[in-house]
Amino acid sequence: MGIHFDEKKQTFSIDTANSTYQFQVDRHGFLLHLYYGKKISGNADYLLKYLDRGFSGNPACLINDRTFSMDVLPQELPVWGSGDFRSPAFVVEKEDGTRSVDLKYVTYQIRKGKYSLPGLPAVYVSDEEATEAETLEIVLEDSVLSLEVDLLYGVLPKLDIITRAIQIKNKGADTVYLDKLMPASLDFITGDYDLITFHGRHTMERLMQRVPINHLSQRIGSRRGASSHQFNPMLIAAKPETTDSFGDCYAMEFVYSGGFQAEALKDQFGTTRVQMGLQEEGFHYPVAFGETFTSPEVILSFSRDGFDRLSHNLHDVIRQHICRGAYQYQPRPVLVNSWEGSLCNITRDSLLSLAREGKEIGLDMLVVDDGWFGNRDDDNTSLGDWYANEEKLGGSLAQLITDVNRIGLKFGIWMEPEMISEKSHLYEMHPDWALQIPGRIPIRGRNQLVLDFSRKDVRDYIYDRICDILDSGNIEYLKWDYNRSIYDVYSEGVTHQGRVLYDYMLGLYEVLEKLVNRYPHVLIEGCSGGGGRYDAGMLYYTPQIWTSDNTDPIDRMLIQYGTSFGYPASTMAAHVSKSPNEQTGRVTPIQTRVIAAMYGSFGFELDLSLLTKEEKKAAGEEVKKYHRLERLITDGRYYRLSDPAKDKFCAWSFVSRDGAEALVNAVVLKLQSNDELFYVRPKGLKPERVYKEINTGECYDSDLLMSAGLPLPKESGEHRAYQFHFILQQ
Ligand code: GLA
Repeated sequence: MGIHFDEKKQTFSIDTANSTYQFQVDRHGFLLHLYYGKKISGNADYLLKYLDRGFSGNPACLINDRTFSMDVLPQELPVWGSGDFRSPAFVVEKEDGTRSVDLKYVTYQIRKGKYSLPGLPAVYVSDEEATEAETLEIVLEDSVLSLEVDLLYGVLPKLDIITRAIQIKNKGADTVYLDKLMPASLDFITGDYDLITFHGRHTMERLMQRVPINHLSQRIGSRRGASSHQFNPMLIAAKPETTDSFGDCYAMEFVYSGGFQAEALKDQFGTTRVQMGLQEEGFHYPVAFGETFTSPEVILSFSRDGFDRLSHNLHDVIRQHICRGAYQYQPRPVLVNSWEGSLCNITRDSLLSLAREGKEIGLDMLVVDDGWFGNRDDDNTSLGDWYANEEKLGGSLAQLITDVNRIGLKFGIWMEPEMISEKSHLYEMHPDWALQIPGRIPIRGRNQLVLDFSRKDVRDYIYDRICDILDSGNIEYLKWDYNRSIYDVYSEGVTHQGRVLYDYMLGLYEVLEKLVNRYPHVLIEGCSGGGGRYDAGMLYYTPQIWTSDNTDPIDRMLIQYGTSFGYPASTMAAHVSKSPNEQTGRVTPIQTRVIAAMYGSFGFELDLSLLTKEEKKAAGEEVKKYHRLERLITDGRYYRLSDPAKDKFCAWSFVSRDGAEALVNAVVLKLQSNDELFYVRPKGLKPERVYKEINTGECYDSDLLMSAGLPLPKESGEHRAYQFHFILQQ
């Protein structure tokens, strides 16, 4: 395992437990990608064939060699200007508008430990793990532009994880502009692949789509300034025959929360290129003499055993090497959130009675969502005025916190720090703090504007306001929301507006980093109209994210299923809400809503006084049960047991790492008269053993369970849900 350089063949091999990644410095100093996939011991350079191909030009350094073309060969970092007409990963423009890069290999370094990226979230390792992790740095140079380009590879061998990032150093006198940067670009020399992406919309995020990669360019991404509800910055390339439990597949996951782009295509000779990186539209980043630009990183992983294994690799890297802080592994508070129950119409009495009802069913925390500050009686006003509305709260925020604590609940609060309402004191004082283009009326989203987080004075002000709020009492949780997209990009005083969106993200990360350091005991939950910024970048600061504004348990099956491909259960906040559901009007049994919410970080979001006595009793029992099961859900291995887009039921399970217990869940999605039985087939149990289902006391042969399955009870009634808890017998 580890990184090796074969001097003779000038080949770099990155070996993880089950994969090899290989590229070569060719005789002209170009970096050619050779192989990524199942672990190998040989050199893959024999795969390359040098042929004279028409209309595929030959690099300037070659005289009379028509058999070498960057348009044909697989590349480690395809650049614009080399003769490669496929999608480039790196485009640079000079002041005069010329665009051409010619990168040649200079040197390399292999280091122990995993690199970090200044000002950016990134996979990290602890001091003890640093001996296993490795970094490979490849230095490339364009001697005409005097540009140094450093390719960084981070390796976590046991998890089959490789990360890629790029640093660009301008050593020349002239400023250059970065127009496109994809830190991850993979060329698969042979083979057919499918592209799996996760698209969606507000209240319906991360729906899986699988299509063949063909002779056309397929591109996903976000131009919205945030990673978005519409596409998640995660994709999978898989052999057509690959399933959850079989076959080769590759993941790319961006550790970044702003605009992104990913592309897949098959070129003229059948090579498949898959890339992920920064959104190129709106990105025109000046790098002046002496400056260094650092890209965010992309996480790569390979599995030869299908998507389950690939997801496990991603779950482990996110939970163990992206999420941080006191709540990385700690049980999360089971909370009740005021939003769906009261919207902005909260009062001291409504909040305290919610807290009391919550206490009655054994909850840990009250979260006061929107409506507690400024004149915020609806969602048209007051963002930026982060002062408690004492009239509404019937006293100070400090007093409310004390009273909630006295009831026996922890206290959490909602904020939307990156936003400003035009109807606010902050806007009256600082209209230029909002992103808007001089001479144009800004586009509103939810009737609000976005604060210019690329500006230090703006960030410092907001940081101080957040600290004032967090210092005003015993606040143990902050929900960090972000409820619109960025349309108008203009920041006062910058040399070029093409840098603003990227600087905005660096600014956001700076504020979050300062908060995480100053308030290590505060759990920050990420949110953007639910899951509009559900990415590995945010998870570096917020170990859980509000998965979706849609709390309908049936819709949630598709949303949580899609999310599960790239993100562990511990990151998914999921709440029990009222029935009929606020978003869909669908009526579902409480048991179904509870089981759907036990998919991740569990909570409630409804007026608890609406629950009947029986429902309250049941809810109390479920809260106790969740506390017993939480470790299994967050630390166990997660398996998908059906495809909710095709099957009539959605089933999934959590299996403890030692195989001693398994929690199998199923929600019936469609009901028909006199239907066939639905069999759920658990995965990941110990073979040739017996498991007992603890609710019924029935014992099962593990191989039989895994091959033939367990029939769901045949009950009438829409959208029933079931949970089976299996314990390994000695
Ligand atoms: C967003 C969030 C909700 C809630 C509201 C408050 O939509 O996703 O959970 O906090 O804002 O305005």
